[in-house]
Amino acid sequence: RSHLIDTDQLSKQEMEELFERAEFWRTHPERWQRAFPGRFVANLFFEPSTRTRISFEVAEKKLGMETLHLDGERSSTVKGETMEDTLKTLAAIGVEVVVVRHQGVGRLASMAEIDTGVSLINAGEGHGGHPTQALLDLYTLQQHFGRLAGLTVVIAGDLRHSRVARSNLWALRTFGARVILSGPESMRDLSMEENAIYLPFDEAIKQADAVMMLRVQLERHEENLFTSADAYRTAYGLTRERMEQMPTHGIIMHPAPVNRDVEIASELVEHPRSKIFKQMENGVWIRMAVLERALLGRG
Ligand code: CP
Repeated sequence: RSHLIDTDQLSKQEMEELFERAEFWRTHPERWQRAFPGRFVANLFFEPSTRTRISFEVAEKKLGMETLHLDGERSSTVKGETMEDTLKTLAAIGVEVVVVRHQGVGRLASMAEIDTGVSLINAGEGHGGHPTQALLDLYTLQQHFGRLAGLTVVIAGDLRHSRVARSNLWALRTFGARVILSGPESMRDLSMEENAIYLPFDEAIKQADAVMMLRVQLERHEENLFTSADAYRTAYGLTRERMEQMPTHGIIMHPAPVNRDVEIASELVEHPRSKIFKQMENGVWIRMAVLERALLGRG
């Protein structure tokens, strides 16, 4: 079985292969329905999701797969069944791939240590990792710039509570991109700074080939770190004035959902320099590639 737990477990070659396959699926719609008919995948979500869940479902349907949904909170895990027994149950019923969104950091890795009979795909795990988001982000960067090595990418905002920041950092480093971290002092994560420099936002933005804005993750704040939308936007948000400090070729990214007028000015979400909706579209192609890898045992 070929699991996808996080980007720190993928080599540059494996990620390049996923980008190639994503590009193949994007450009060969005539191949979609003939790809994997009669193969069952279950989407098991314990946390809310719009983009990841729906783009996995669209990717599965485009590949001709049979798609099943199981809401974590309505599964027999609430009766005490372990995740491992849940996965073995799905395998016994005929499911080959399970896409999991879970709040417990490290849960996917521990599930992957047991041979439950299914391939696991991490669809976002607490503040730990979100590998398909990072893969679609890098695919979007490569599509736009034609390369990843040597790019300067600023990841800015609520670093401490962001699974997206972590998975992107590992993947960008693997490709030789330069990562600058920025955000409020109270939301810094020193463990990430072992692998990237940290700069004040107004300094960082001047160097950005791309800026990845992070959502303020209020649902994960254990104490009151956030005073007001106005105060946050003024100090750390991507405003029009700050965008104008970027190099003229610099692009705007955000994994979404977006807190409009908090970490990013609402007028910039659909700005010509924004790739936010392109990222969402690219999520479908990347997830087709990831599902294919899970089924074929690539990598
Ligand atoms: N970017 C992302 O993971 O969005 P959802 O939480 O809506 O899936």
